[in-house]
Amino acid sequence: MFISKYKYIDDENLIEYAASLSQKEGDLRDKLLHWDFGPLMNMSYLTNAANYLFSAEKVPFHWDGAFYKEPASLLFYCTESNGEGGETIFSNTEKIWDSLTTEQKVKAEKITMIYRTEKKAHYGGEIRVPLVQKHPVSGKTILRIAERVETSLNPVELIIEGVSDGEEFYELLREKLYSPEFMIAHKWERGDLLICDNFTYLHGRNPLQSNLKRSFKRLQIL
Ligand SMILES: [Fe+2]
Repeated sequence: MFISKYKYIDDENLIEYAASLSQKEGDLRDKLLHWDFGPLMNMSYLTNAANYLFSAEKVPFHWDGAFYKEPASLLFYCTESNGEGGETIFSNTEKIWDSLTTEQKVKAEKITMIYRTEKKAHYGGEIRVPLVQKHPVSGKTILRIAERVETSLNPVELIIEGVSDGEEFYELLREKLYSPEFMIAHKWERGDLLICDNFTYLHGRNPLQSNLKRSFKRLQIL
């Protein structure tokens, strides 16, 4: 994970910088994930949010692009942050994997996670994901565990297949996700630029509380 501070970067320079970090060949669409709104997403609190990402709620742990195309890394540029709350949380799944017992590892390898959500923001559908996967670049073992999203605003259903005590195992992993041994919470200041690996780390967000002005630009590097 890389964190730096910049006074001001305009969208054009941010896009150019993010694209320069891609290992992919080709044009901008090969280097940065594009959505309906293009490669740069403006994220901020909306009073009429249809999706919890734009509400003041907590955002549970997940990885980006699960329902579409998985970027290698994520770039966040903070344009406003003021008050308590809204820290972005990151959890290192390589370290969580290393912390499991042999018996737990055997169990984890049998599990398939099924995620389902309605398309209300820029993503949606149903996916089947092996819990244990390999990082495509480093080859290290990672865990693809996104938390069930229980919200009235665009919930994400989760079904755990492959073992009889899947729910219990899911709770054990969730406990680890939030353990200080594996998790860090980044408190934002305007100008923070943060880049994180979207395979090794899962990310989420603490409730915004008084930090309703918290705003970002987010790019996804392929
Ligand atoms: Fe995300």
